[in-house]
Amino acid sequence: MRASQVGKSAGRGHQASPLLYEAEVVPGIEDLAIQELREKCGRRLHDIAALRPGFIRFALAPVPAALSSLRSVIALYRVYIFAIPRPKALLGHQHFSRLLKILQAEAASFQRKPQTFGIGAAGANTPVMRRLRQELAQALALVPAADGKGELFMRLLRQADGAGWEVLLRAGAAPLSKRAYRLRDMPGALNSTVAYAMTRCAAPPETGTVVNLCSGSATILIEHGCANATGALLAVERDPAMLAAGDINVEAAGLSARIRPLQADATAVPLPAGAAHQLYADLPFGNLIGTHESNRQLYPRLLKEAARIAQPGAPFIVLTQEIKLLRACLAESPWHVISERRLNLRGMRPRLFVLKRNSIRIE
Ligand SMILES: C[S@@+](CC[C@H](N)C(=O)[O-])C[C@H]1O[C@@H](n2cnc3c(N)ncnc32)[C@H](O)[C@@H]1O
Repeated sequence: MRASQVGKSAGRGHQASPLLYEAEVVPGIEDLAIQELREKCGRRLHDIAALRPGFIRFALAPVPAALSSLRSVIALYRVYIFAIPRPKALLGHQHFSRLLKILQAEAASFQRKPQTFGIGAAGANTPVMRRLRQELAQALALVPAADGKGELFMRLLRQADGAGWEVLLRAGAAPLSKRAYRLRDMPGALNSTVAYAMTRCAAPPETGTVVNLCSGSATILIEHGCANATGALLAVERDPAMLAAGDINVEAAGLSARIRPLQADATAVPLPAGAAHQLYADLPFGNLIGTHESNRQLYPRLLKEAARIAQPGAPFIVLTQEIKLLRACLAESPWHVISERRLNLRGMRPRLFVLKRNSIRIE
């Protein structure tokens, strides 16, 4: 999405300034997304609140270009209010014309003309919704998207007070979470906005080395490198296919000079004691990557090795769905929990832990 795209849509005359937006985020990181919005929008931001899990509402006047640089947000939607009793009324001439103009203006702001159109709504397959989708797609000269989404994508939602309906029009032809650097999308690769959230859970070290154990395709270190201009970044991964995918993504992110790949076992890292000033691990959850049995071997050893290579006081940011196993291993480890947050990642319920190493060194 181009920076100039956000907020450039037609239909502006139908609503008084400031403009209303909704940001979709991974449930569990709303506070970090609100923090990022505040940092990037400053005093232009009004009435910001997470009204329901995973959705943040806010008003903006005027709209800053910085919105397209949000890294904690899956997708950003401009909200348009329609004073109608039910979606069928959108098929009437007046509302249909207004909606069409709004959609045409958004499509015209894309770098490349969109090909597909989709509507997300409860009851998306009712005859009314099917007709609305078809008639809009035809008027826009777009193809209804096979997956229901599409490059030009709107959601339809009843207003919270039941007074009317909201059309939420996604800014850009793709979600913000679809990063340009992800040329290789590997099984088990982490959602980019969660990787970004991991980089915001603890203050980054000003100097020194940041180590990502079990780095996979390097999503976390790429997000760290994009958010922090300094520091050496080391990606430790044992699978050469993952490392190769990571190399391609790292190069696409322009971070090859900073992120060094290291093919190694995360339980025996060829680094001296105290080499790491901060650590990350998106551990195998035991379903898509690894098994519960292999994790029972991996987790305690990895925690011990992480403690060996960590500087005293170094934070270790860990994502896992194996909560019970991690807790049991932590009790036997030189790490303690500083904070913990629950996420909802498309039905999976991982937790994000910030750990700190106890001051007694384990050699
Ligand atoms: C959940 S994936 C990490 C995905 C990564 N965050 C990404 O975005 O691509 C876990 C990774 O741990 C790696 N792994 C498992 N056991 C390991 C070990 N003992 N040493 C190093 N890497 C290991 C797997 O190969 C896999 O790439």
